[in-house]
Amino acid sequence: MEAEQSSPPPSAAAEDCLVFTVNGERFEVPEIDPSTTLLEFLRSKTRFKSVKLGCGEGGCGACVVLLSKYDTVNKKVENFTVSSCLTLLCSINGCSVTTSEGLGNSKDGFHPIHQRFAGFHASQCGFCTPGMCMSLFSALANAEKTNQPQASPGFSKLTVSDAEKAIAGNLCRCTGYRPIADACKSFAADVDLEDLGINSFWKKGDKKEVRLSRLPSYNPKDDTCPYTELEDEYKSTRLLNSKKNSWYSPVTIEELQNLLHSDMVENGTRIKLVVGNTGTGYYKETEIYDKYIDLRYIPELSVVRKNNAGIEFGAALPISKVILYLKEESKANECSSGDLLFTKIADHMEKVASGFVRNSASLGGNLVMAQRKYFPSDIVTLLLAVGSSVSVLAGHKHETITMEEFLSRPPLDPIDVLLSVHVPFHQPTRIDGSVHTNSRLFFETYRAAPRPLGNALPYLNAAFLADISCDKNGSLVNNIRLAFGAYGTKHATRARKVEEYLTGKILSLRVLDEAIKLVKDAVVSEEGTSNAAYRSSLAVDFLFEFLNFSSVASAISGGSSEELSGSVREGAAESINDKICQTGRPPLLSSGKQVLQSSRDYYPVGEPMPKFGAAIQASGEAIYVDDIPSPPNCLHGAFICSTKPVARVKSISFKSNQQPTAVISVKDIPREGENIGSLAMFGSEPLFADDLTRFAGDLIAFVVAETQKNANLAAKTALVEYDTEGLDPPILTVEEAVERSSFFDVPPYIYPQEVGDFSKGMAEADHKILSAKIKLGSQYYFYMETQTALAVPDEDNCMVVYSSSQCPEYAHRVIARCLGVPEHNVRVLTRRVGGGFGGKALKAMPIAAACALAAHKLRRPVRMYLDRKTDMIIAGGRHPMKITYSVGFKSDGKITALHLDILINAGITSDISPIIPNNMMGTLKKYNWGALSFDIKVCKTNLSSKSAMRAPGEVQGSFIPEAIIEHVASMLSMEVDSVRNRNLHTYESLKLFYGSASGESIEFTLPSIWDKVGQSSSFDERTAMVEQFNHSNVWRKRGISRVPIVHEVYVRSAPGKVSILSDGSIVVEVGGIELGQGLWTKVKQVTAYALSSIQCDGIEDLVEKVRVVQSDTLSLVQGGFTAGSTTSESSCEAVRLCCNVLVERLAPLKEKLQEQMGSVKWDVLIIQAHSQSVNLAAHSFFVPDSSSTQYLNYGAAVSEVEVNIISGETRILRTDIVYDCGQSMNPAVDMGQIEGAFVQGLGFFMLEEYQTNSDGMVTADGTWTYKIPTIDTIPKQFNVEVLNSGHHQKRVLSSKASGEPPLLLAASVHCATRAAIKEARKQLKSWGAVEGTDPTFQVDVPATMPVVKQLCGLNTVETYLQSLLSKS
Ligand SMILES: Cc1cc2nc3c(=O)[nH]c(=O)nc-3n(C[C@H](O)[C@H](O)[C@H](O)COP(=O)(O)OP(=O)(O)OC[C@H]3O[C@@H](n4cnc5c(N)ncnc54)[C@H](O)[C@@H]3O)c2cc1C
Ligand code: FES
Ligand code: FES
Repeated sequence: MEAEQSSPPPSAAAEDCLVFTVNGERFEVPEIDPSTTLLEFLRSKTRFKSVKLGCGEGGCGACVVLLSKYDTVNKKVENFTVSSCLTLLCSINGCSVTTSEGLGNSKDGFHPIHQRFAGFHASQCGFCTPGMCMSLFSALANAEKTNQPQASPGFSKLTVSDAEKAIAGNLCRCTGYRPIADACKSFAADVDLEDLGINSFWKKGDKKEVRLSRLPSYNPKDDTCPYTELEDEYKSTRLLNSKKNSWYSPVTIEELQNLLHSDMVENGTRIKLVVGNTGTGYYKETEIYDKYIDLRYIPELSVVRKNNAGIEFGAALPISKVILYLKEESKANECSSGDLLFTKIADHMEKVASGFVRNSASLGGNLVMAQRKYFPSDIVTLLLAVGSSVSVLAGHKHETITMEEFLSRPPLDPIDVLLSVHVPFHQPTRIDGSVHTNSRLFFETYRAAPRPLGNALPYLNAAFLADISCDKNGSLVNNIRLAFGAYGTKHATRARKVEEYLTGKILSLRVLDEAIKLVKDAVVSEEGTSNAAYRSSLAVDFLFEFLNFSSVASAISGGSSEELSGSVREGAAESINDKICQTGRPPLLSSGKQVLQSSRDYYPVGEPMPKFGAAIQASGEAIYVDDIPSPPNCLHGAFICSTKPVARVKSISFKSNQQPTAVISVKDIPREGENIGSLAMFGSEPLFADDLTRFAGDLIAFVVAETQKNANLAAKTALVEYDTEGLDPPILTVEEAVERSSFFDVPPYIYPQEVGDFSKGMAEADHKILSAKIKLGSQYYFYMETQTALAVPDEDNCMVVYSSSQCPEYAHRVIARCLGVPEHNVRVLTRRVGGGFGGKALKAMPIAAACALAAHKLRRPVRMYLDRKTDMIIAGGRHPMKITYSVGFKSDGKITALHLDILINAGITSDISPIIPNNMMGTLKKYNWGALSFDIKVCKTNLSSKSAMRAPGEVQGSFIPEAIIEHVASMLSMEVDSVRNRNLHTYESLKLFYGSASGESIEFTLPSIWDKVGQSSSFDERTAMVEQFNHSNVWRKRGISRVPIVHEVYVRSAPGKVSILSDGSIVVEVGGIELGQGLWTKVKQVTAYALSSIQCDGIEDLVEKVRVVQSDTLSLVQGGFTAGSTTSESSCEAVRLCCNVLVERLAPLKEKLQEQMGSVKWDVLIIQAHSQSVNLAAHSFFVPDSSSTQYLNYGAAVSEVEVNIISGETRILRTDIVYDCGQSMNPAVDMGQIEGAFVQGLGFFMLEEYQTNSDGMVTADGTWTYKIPTIDTIPKQFNVEVLNSGHHQKRVLSSKASGEPPLLLAASVHCATRAAIKEARKQLKSWGAVEGTDPTFQVDVPATMPVVKQLCGLNTVETYLQSLLSKS
């Protein structure tokens, strides 16, 4: 590292006009609102729409772009990713922006990244894909700059581990990440192509050379990052100083001071100091500033200065650069204490946010957010532990103060400037001027967060620095600094009392025990902090780990501290492993296996073809609703949602500078119209709250403004006055609903049937469990594209609405009724949806209806793209429920009777809720319960209406049996797997429970699947290994579990239309919507298969001639819902019927031509047919016959997890799935559905807390609080077998569903976690604990870290120490 670095030189020329390029196109912007983000500009002012808005918080990566910038100090171009949703446009002056379209596209040719994403089946809905591609591209570009040896041709210098980490900050809700990881890894220098999963490039068994030759070629040299356009111009820094843009880039402290203390400021000018602007991702800004001052160009703020005392870092340095410097410094001082400190600080900082945030987020910005707004910073904790100081410029006063002083001062003034941070070097204690021979520095950092690689705020972070020497009596603590942060405190703190206590002490069990008690008193969360006890216990456990596990005793005295040695060794080994995993050196994911059995019976159906449109999704050219350019005069809308569950709205007012163009509410519904927002089979839901709000999140009004930003701002800052006088309190829980008899009716024809005689079953039982309880929470869809619509008024009182919807037909009806016009006046168009998962079925309708209503009233186009927060508040999501069960069973584990009382929280309207009981029983009956009875109530509460979410009711219905079986097994002290085995169905019992849905006995594949997954996962051997592991490990416990599923689905009717054009190309319309599930791809394959029965020449590539087009509710009516897993097969069948008609019409002509010509080409046949007026368009409406509407899907999974008893973290070591897809229409698509659904289920069972406040208002309202799975939380090894169970006469081309059932298999992870916890509790008991050791316990869903830790024992460490103490 150079002794001093800074950028740039202070001789910068001032520029008034903002200049930058995007994908080589130059943009000069003379005037712009300085709060405009790069994303807003790209999406609204350019044709580059690949940058997607997924969160607007820096938390999802959908908006990632590559920024190229000339570094005037090092005289080279830097390339790095940023989140364009947080980057201010003015801050990219002089930069080049590359978006996914810039890498390649359909016109100029796709980039190999795009091709490989498509070929590895790594894009489903495609909304995350351009951002993923850019994250990978940046990693590839930067890998080339390293000193790593050149990779072999076709590969990058990137390692497999770095390839996976490249996308660690990007969220995908569809794929489950495995295929994305494969696409990324395919570029890595150290990849073994054998390890890569299913793809369209090669086949299993192909030789390495063949594989290599088929992989779309990659040459890093082709990827020279674009900067040529601006390089010459910006070689000497030209900075934006623009009065018009209110943007200033001072290059000296004096200039800065002048700007800060000019007359304007003293006159109340609102000023914003800005570096990366990532702080707005957390503190959403509604304030408008007069002046933005960019701090990045002042040398003092970008300095890295090293002297004997330590290193000074300029406050404006991006965190990623600080990490680099720290790493360089530690390399330069290998084996010194500096090495230790800097490496660990750098490693920890790599878990702050994600790469694309750290590239622009500054060190100083982080500290200022922590100081001023109590942001739960990691960096402050680290710096506090190592005794850092900061330099601050307050007014004209420049002072250097310690970090503690900095934190304890009142919040910095908006115009105070943090200049730099000083990190001191540390030396072990010197005695008589020399280093004590035995003295050593120990430094460790900790963070407990839901995602191991970062991109999640921690529950608690800590950093400990200790100077310990070897005394004749043991390990002597000379000095110790203990910093804790982010645990629900304003600032990170030092545990001074503990430090004082430990200083001068010889480490012993008693000392440790006392220190731990003191820590518990010191680290106490402020009132109202969630999981406060968990956070406190983390503090204890981390200190224990530090003083016990960091090899203190053995490192210093060769293990002289006898009392601790037993656990030291194990702990140390684990600690080291842990570190290796956390720093991610070995790959995150080991190779997974995908086993497919494709069939050529219906070729090309059965081929694992890449998803139609995957490459344009990757390049960002695929058009989603919000990518449709705004028509002239277009307005934008945003909802104002109620914050009170039951209230009268007295008034709505707006700040004077945020007045919207119009405010639409219930009063604006036309006289002939209706206050209707959505429609389902059980009734409709109002669009707007009328007299009273009905739940927190109810739509009060729709504000309309000239831009989306202004509409959002107006909606957010609107002042709503409520009145609750004389109103009944809201019903928020199912218990309250029962008390007040608030239920929805369930029509008898869909209420499920009981089985057998419960009383008799109970009488036969040897044992009984009575009235045990389970509670299940909600889950949010987290489709990457939020709800969106564009309504365009058309002639003669008509309305065209582009809607991102899973059921345009119903949206169509709602709009017509809302506007009071005939249905033929409305047309709803849906091309593709950026993820739905049920959330864009009913819940998309109010968005379309509100836009249409506003457009109707204002006679202007109106569009809306919901911000993530509003989307999360109104979404509803999965149904929470409370289950009370009583079960009778024999001593051998055979269950004889089960009764369930189920209270389903449906929220305010019936939505699809009345079908939930039926759905639940469709999966709950997977075991032979002997007799099954139930009482299910659908409760009406003052919460947002719960709706269909992937496997609605089914996932809960499938989980409840597992919880019951585990309870039974615990009571009998039996292996859970053997109790499961004992209660699996025979075909006879299956028929008893499922009736005709069970089909023929040959179709009942569950028993063979159960055995197959047992064998393929080596279940028995691994069960023994898990036992062995648990025996020899104290702080980590493993569990393994095998879980079956039976999932009943219903086939619904569906329309289709196939038209053959004169050149032989084919256009297809179907009722089903392409949501990413590959429906269009299957439809194309079936079209080609069915038309090829005409047996012409040239039909081999017929599939290439097929195009499926957008859904248009006036062109194809009765489209229905795309939901319930069976829409693909119904749409395929509808298309097949059309094709059969066409073939029938064409056959006579073909025969005639064949007689004349010998052989007939497809193109010739079609041209002849056109000239002879054969009707080449066919329409169909597939209605399944009543005997085949219901059928069962089967699968089983084995998951193994490892639970960290200290932090409560669960790692999924391996999952094996076997799933029956019948004769899969496209095994690659089905594989994607299986893996993606499983990972979404994983989110439900392990991670996603959809929390509400005491008014029922959703508080998990963004990426900060709602954590879906990421690449670091999926199974490390993921093996999936798509079973081809042969010919199913009654199924569409023998296929079976794959969209929802595999989600249920994720319960295996939860069950394995429970098994691991059980081991921890057993151990706790062996240490003498009584409380928390009962083997019959319930594990909440989701089993988050606090839940797991709580069950393993919040006082584990104390109990452990006490047990040792009692022995000593
Ligand atoms: C998605 C995401 C995840 C994150 N996760 C973590 C995490 O896990 N742990 C963690 O510690 N942090 C985390 N952060 C916080 C991140 O480190 C900060 O957002 C970032 O460092 C702020 O730097 P900035 O340059 O973007 O600041 P800006 O947004 O530009 O500024 C933030 C505030 O500080 C002021 N300011 C900035 N620099 C100075 C200065 N030198 N002097 C005076 N005032 C100044 C600004 O006026 C503004 O008020 C995360 C952030 C994001 C967006
Ligand atoms: S939209 Fe920018 S990170 Fe999510
Ligand atoms: S493909 Fe990743 S979010 Fe849909």
